[in-house]
Order: sequence, then C-alpha cells, then structure tokens
Amino acid sequence: MAVTRHLPTVRSVIAEAKANLSPRLLDYVEGGSSGESSLAANRAAFGLWSFDPDMLTGLSRPRLGIELLGMTLRMPVFASPFGYDKALHPAGYAAVARAIGEAGITGIVSESSSDSLVELAPEFAGQQGGVQVALVAEDEHVLGFEERAAAAGYRFLCFTDAPTRAWRERMRENGLDLNRYYGQGNYGPGGASRHALDELMNFTQPRWDWKRLETLAAKMTLPWVLKGVVSARDARRAVDAGAAGIYMSAYGGRNLDGMIAPLRRLEEVRAEVGPDVPILIDSGFRHGTDIAKALALGATAVGVGRLMAFGLAAGSHEDPSLGARTILQHLHDELESVMGSLGCETVEQIDRHHVVPAQP
Ligand SMILES: Cc1cc2nc3c(=O)[nH]c(=O)nc-3n(C[C@H](O)[C@H](O)[C@H](O)COP(=O)(O)O)c2cc1C
Repeated sequence: MAVTRHLPTVRSVIAEAKANLSPRLLDYVEGGSSGESSLAANRAAFGLWSFDPDMLTGLSRPRLGIELLGMTLRMPVFASPFGYDKALHPAGYAAVARAIGEAGITGIVSESSSDSLVELAPEFAGQQGGVQVALVAEDEHVLGFEERAAAAGYRFLCFTDAPTRAWRERMRENGLDLNRYYGQGNYGPGGASRHALDELMNFTQPRWDWKRLETLAAKMTLPWVLKGVVSARDARRAVDAGAAGIYMSAYGGRNLDGMIAPLRRLEEVRAEVGPDVPILIDSGFRHGTDIAKALALGATAVGVGRLMAFGLAAGSHEDPSLGARTILQHLHDELESVMGSLGCETVEQIDRHHVVPAQP
C-alpha cells in the first residue's frame, strides 16, 4: 500500500503529526499531568514482561478478530476517546471515525468532541461506535447522552469519573484554552445543557457514588463500561453496579500522576471478574507487542488514545483519515506478526503462559 511506503511505521506517523502540530498543541496531545511519572510508568509496565513463545505449532496465518459487547471487531483494538479534535485537524473526529470503520474496529466519541455525537455517528461504517460521558451534574444529563447515543446507533457507553480537574502543567504554562473553541459539539441546542458543561469544567456539585451509578444504570438500554478502573475492588463494584465490561485506564498519564499502570493490575482484575466479563485497557500502548502482552494477561481489547490523536494530526488535506488509518493498519500487521511468532492462530490462543516476568 502506498500509505505504508510513505509512513512505514507507527513511529513515522507520530513524526509526521509532530511536524504538523504547534508546540502548544503538541503539549496537549503528548503531555501528562504533574511530573509526568505516570506517563513513563505506563510505558515501563510493558518491560516487566517477556514473551515465552511456542515453536512448531503447525498453525496457519493468525486471525485477529474478536467479539466485544455484541460487536464483531477485526482486531482486539479500539480507539480511546479524545476531545477537542478539530484543534488537531480541521476534519476532526469524522476522519478518525472513518478510519475506525474501515479498520472494522470500534472507537469511543468523547463528550468533548468538536462535532456532536449525532453528527459523527454516520462516519462509523457499520455503526460500531461508543460514547464517553463523565458522571457529573444531574442524572438527566447522563441519560440524555445515552438517549442521543442510542438513537444515533451507538452500541455502548463509556462512563468516566471526573471529580476534579487534572493538574496539567504544560497546559497551565502554555495557557491554551481548547474548550472554548473545540470541545462543545455535544452541548447547546439539541445536545446537553450548558449547565452540565459548566459542571464538567468547574466541579461544584458533590461527586457521584456507586449507588447512584447503579440506580441510573438500571434506567439505561445501552450496555456500559466504566473507564478508569485499576483495582480488583473497583472492578467488582462496577460489575455489581451493572457494568457490561471493565475499562482499565490511567488516562494515558493525563489525570492522577504517580498512579499504578493499569497493565500491572490486569491479571488481578481478570481473576476478580472471571473469564466472561470483557476487559478493555489503555494507557501506553504503542506496539503490537504491547497489545499481545495485555491479551496474554487477560485483556479483551486494547485502546489507543495518543496514537489516534497523532493519527488525526498526521492526516493530509486531501486524505484526513490517512494517519489514523495507517496507524491501525500497522497495529494490525504487527500484531499479526507477533501472534505468528508466539505460535497463536487466534486471539483466544494468546494466554497467560505466553508471558513471564522479565528478569531484573
Ligand atoms: C489529546 C487527548 C485527549 C483526551 N481526551 C479524553 C476525553 O475527552 N475523555 C476521556 O475519557 N479520555 C480522554 N483522553 C484519554 C484517552 O481516552 C486514553 O485513556 C489515553 O490517551 C490512553 O493512553 P495513551 O494515550 O497512552 O494511548 C484523551 C487523551 C488524549 C491523548
């Protein structure tokens, strides 16, 4: 494919994106919170595991497809939500959604997307999208997102717990106010209320609790996952509250700095929820090898946040989906290669014995 000749690796797409972004926007995409130690810890977690491949398995070409929340995905990868997308490319998230549709996977539209979730829905070929919304403001606010998402054909909701503003030092220093210009597609006439947007930004009301989430969830029709889980105890609470899946995440090191990398808790969370509850995970995934390690430790599907944001920023004028599409193609092809090396024909065959603790 011409695309892969010009941008032969994920790294080369990131380099293209970096060349297109201003220093302030690069800080927005690349930066973490506070001292950015979580950013490093998320990446370092992959180094704690080494592969233990099987030889001469006699298997044929790997098949990467999986089932997730009633959807059939062509590989165990999804696009994590990111907001303020039109700051990165004028085509915005629509370009990412098209790449997601073409790759046959799923992706999650952020509540802070530049266009509304209703406008973006048709861009996902096959209507395989999800929608992220923070548990803030009144119940009606969250239910309103669910109603609009269900009516537009989205398949699931992704709840986040946003009790406070993240301490992002690069953003404080560069003074970039993206929300004003790029993050309000889901608010205003036909969408969520300005009052809820205020709450999302200013955190004046008491935070939500598990009981309230459970009561609200009982009124919903779409399945939902809870994003931000890093412990077996919260995974259990989420399942008890009605979650259809667990979404382990440290928000790519963008929220609480110094927190444990989700990968380090993956095995424990899998043991807690059992084999049937899907586990989504993100934070730090850059390579097919990273994805395979998470699958071996119990993940169902792996999310990429910055890779999709960089992919959008690498899009050209004529082909805005180019970067996102190329990233997904490379992740697919690398994972296929890694599965072959491990001796696995299907994603289900990647299991715990394929990774061992790395030697100190
Ligand atoms: C530019 C950018 C914006 C983001 N905006 C949101 C958001 O609006 N809602 C959300 O739940 N997560 C948001 N995230 C976090 C991602 O969904 C994801 O958890 C994180 O990027 C995963 O780590 P990774 O970047 O190392 O893949 C954002 C991430 C980035 C890079």
